[in-house]
Amino acid sequence: MQKPEDYTYVIHPESPAEQVRLAKQDIFLNEMLGTDLLPPDLILDRVKPIQILDIGSGPGTWALTVAHRYPDTQITGIDISEVNVKYANAQARVEHKDDSVSFEAMDATKPLIFNDNSFDMVNARAINGFLTLATWQSLMAELARVVCPGGMVRIVDNDFLGRTTSPAYDRLLDLFVAVGKKDPTRIPAATPRLRRFFEQTGFTDLRDRGYCIDFSTGAPAHDACVENFTVAFTLIKPYVVGLELVSMEAYEDLCNLAIAEMYSADFGGVWFWRAMWGRKPEK
Ligand SMILES: C[S@@+](CC[C@H](N)C(=O)[O-])C[C@H]1O[C@@H](n2cnc3c(N)ncnc32)[C@H](O)[C@@H]1O
Repeated sequence: MQKPEDYTYVIHPESPAEQVRLAKQDIFLNEMLGTDLLPPDLILDRVKPIQILDIGSGPGTWALTVAHRYPDTQITGIDISEVNVKYANAQARVEHKDDSVSFEAMDATKPLIFNDNSFDMVNARAINGFLTLATWQSLMAELARVVCPGGMVRIVDNDFLGRTTSPAYDRLLDLFVAVGKKDPTRIPAATPRLRRFFEQTGFTDLRDRGYCIDFSTGAPAHDACVENFTVAFTLIKPYVVGLELVSMEAYEDLCNLAIAEMYSADFGGVWFWRAMWGRKPEK
């Protein structure tokens, strides 16, 4: 079992508030993916369920949504948080999907406890928050090991915060960039690096797709996104303030101002996401 001091996630993964935030975020992210819940060119086998691994599975909503929509799947989710794993397994039981979906506690920054060639597809969404450049590379190598020849790996990640009309939100963005520079092992956004990650690990047939969530005032995603950012700003506070670039008071004032501006009638905001997927060569 992992000890909290080993956690590399910028938010404490066992925080109940984080669990609720992820469960709510999952809903609008699954909506964002729409018909791309799985890579569009993934071939489902009607004879034998395809084996899927989900990395950093959180409350398990992606895995369970896939299981309901595609009954020919067998899904294993892994997450470092025992709290998330227990919640996700309970949810699988409640939704009568525990025969095809299960969750295990595992640290994705370490060698994965799966045999070579165990999965037909690996999914990983929004995992940049617990990875460094080095652990991105070691995880990609592990995914190449556990996926079978011809199998697929897909990463879905975002440009960290969105782009908005809020001046305070821009100042928060600048602060997070400065925080990123102070902690050089972190990368603020994985999206521009995805192609290199896949190429360096030997994946072929690379494909990608971009998504944009409009969270302007009046747009359907506004309330959910603003609530999500509001909670995330608070949960990430110990990490940001701990790097000593900003005092606790100044950070809280800036967050409160950004939140107020996000609720103004003329607020505009977009949040960019990118999915990239590739195949492990047959030989
Ligand atoms: C931003 S959430 C993404 C959750 C989910 N994939 C989604 O798309 O909604 C990141 C998840 O990674 C988990 N996590 C953090 N560190 C981890 C690690 N070292 N290994 C595996 N999972 C980890 C967290 O507990 C959290 O559930």
